[in-house]
Amino acid sequence: MSRITFLSIGLLALSPMVMAQGQSLHDAACLQCHASLTGGKPTSLYTRADRKVTTLASLQQRVKGCAIAADANWSDAERESVVKYLSTTFYSFK
Ligand code: HEC
Repeated sequence: MSRITFLSIGLLALSPMVMAQGQSLHDAACLQCHASLTGGKPTSLYTRADRKVTTLASLQQRVKGCAIAADANWSDAERESVVKYLSTTFYSFK
């Protein structure tokens, strides 16, 4: 197999892994407080009609701020994986 083929397989595998990491970091650090804000429906914060986050930049800002509230000591890559998870699953930013 050519090197290019190996490279594309690697890139294809990367995205679901980042998403899964983002989801597990998110669920561990973020769900509980959001659940208490929403009467037990934490992800409704991201899907409600009047949600606050409307751009990728504001999502990155919000995750940064909320990570401090959550006392999550994430690396930039970990935080980006959470942004990726939320963006792909709930916000559909490009
Ligand atoms: C201590 C409580 C708390 C924790 C922990 C917390 N959040 Fe939040 N989060 C809030 C509050 C309060 C809001 C604003 C709710 C509102 O505007 O009505 C919010 C809103 C958000 C929004 C915006 C929703 C919208 O309106 O579009 C995102 C995105 C978000 N949080 C991400 C996270 C992430 C990621 C984590 C985990 C690192 C996290 N939050 C942890 C309290 C928390």
